[in-house]
Amino acid sequence: MKLKIAILAGDGIGPEVTLEATNILKAVADLGGHDFTFTPALIGGVAITESGSPLPQATLDAALDSDAVLLGAVGDNKFGALPPDKRPEAGLLQIRQALGGYANLRPSVAYPALSGNSPLRPEVTEGADILFVRELLGGLYFGAPRWWNRESNEAINTMRYTRDEVARIARIAFELASKRRKKVTSVDKANVLEVSQLWRATVTEIARDYPDVKLEHQLVDSMAMHLMNTPRNFDVVLTENLFGDILSDEAAVITGSLGMLPSATIGGTVNLYEPVHGSAPDIAGQGKANPLGAILTAAMILRHSARLEEDAAAVEAAVQKVLADGHRTADIATGSGSSQPIATTQQMGKLVHNALAEAIDRRHAMHAV
Ligand code: IPM
Ligand code: MG
Repeated sequence: MKLKIAILAGDGIGPEVTLEATNILKAVADLGGHDFTFTPALIGGVAITESGSPLPQATLDAALDSDAVLLGAVGDNKFGALPPDKRPEAGLLQIRQALGGYANLRPSVAYPALSGNSPLRPEVTEGADILFVRELLGGLYFGAPRWWNRESNEAINTMRYTRDEVARIARIAFELASKRRKKVTSVDKANVLEVSQLWRATVTEIARDYPDVKLEHQLVDSMAMHLMNTPRNFDVVLTENLFGDILSDEAAVITGSLGMLPSATIGGTVNLYEPVHGSAPDIAGQGKANPLGAILTAAMILRHSARLEEDAAAVEAAVQKVLADGHRTADIATGSGSSQPIATTQQMGKLVHNALAEAIDRRHAMHAV
């Protein structure tokens, strides 16, 4: 299997975690005889510093010329005073738009080994396994008009969706739910917003094509509460762009750390893969970052772009094994009861690598007999 992957490590902890994820992909390629190539390119604050733009043309070209894009993180306080369209984050929004993927899949799973790390009681989180399907190209992030008038002290952003934009993301949610526990929870604010009324009507219409999938609607405010009270009640959670941004960070509480969460964006010309966490400038360059979100993102590349399901599952199992053995980066150390010393980013990556290599060797040995 051949796969061209553009590596956009970005800012802060992005380079550290992306390196560990890339090592895992290299290991899968070596052990399985696959041909994966990696093309590094700049995005975010580092790209502004080097070239004046958060998304240089060369990066866009490299991304469009690849089969998958792995992005670390963007964001740097150094650019904090700039308007949104000049900040590092603009590079991320531009590349999302250019690649065209509108369905951002964000799984949030309560791993048994991490049950002590969530502030939620283990009996609340146990067995929780949620897949957020976040619309990524519409809503307040991209709606026009948008401006801030400093003379009149007035600012505006626009939440806009068309029926077709809602229908296509709804279809993805129902398709995925039909292969899981067959339930879609659609999140909106239909008691206040017209956009949400269109959203609800469209999702209800699409649901008719999926009679075996149960649909429920939740208002975003009560959803924020139910997510913490009864996370096990949810299977696929379908949201517009901003609601999904907020709720998927909240859902990190179920897993135990934002550093654990992966994501994949599908539906466009090239799939875009990014851990859910940000650039965490406060811990950058210190070996403190948790690389597991990025490594689980690499597993999503194997699943959705390389179609190597067995290898994707092997990477996920290797992560679980390392956690079950008590290994912890700082963000998941409290409450773990582990006596292991805190692992650095690199050590954690190496541990997953070793567990994966052992599992793949065992698989090969089994196929050989
Ligand atoms: C995310 C991030 C981004 C978003 C930022 C960095 C633009 O928070 O991927 O969740 O809001 O989409
Ligand atoms: Mg976010």
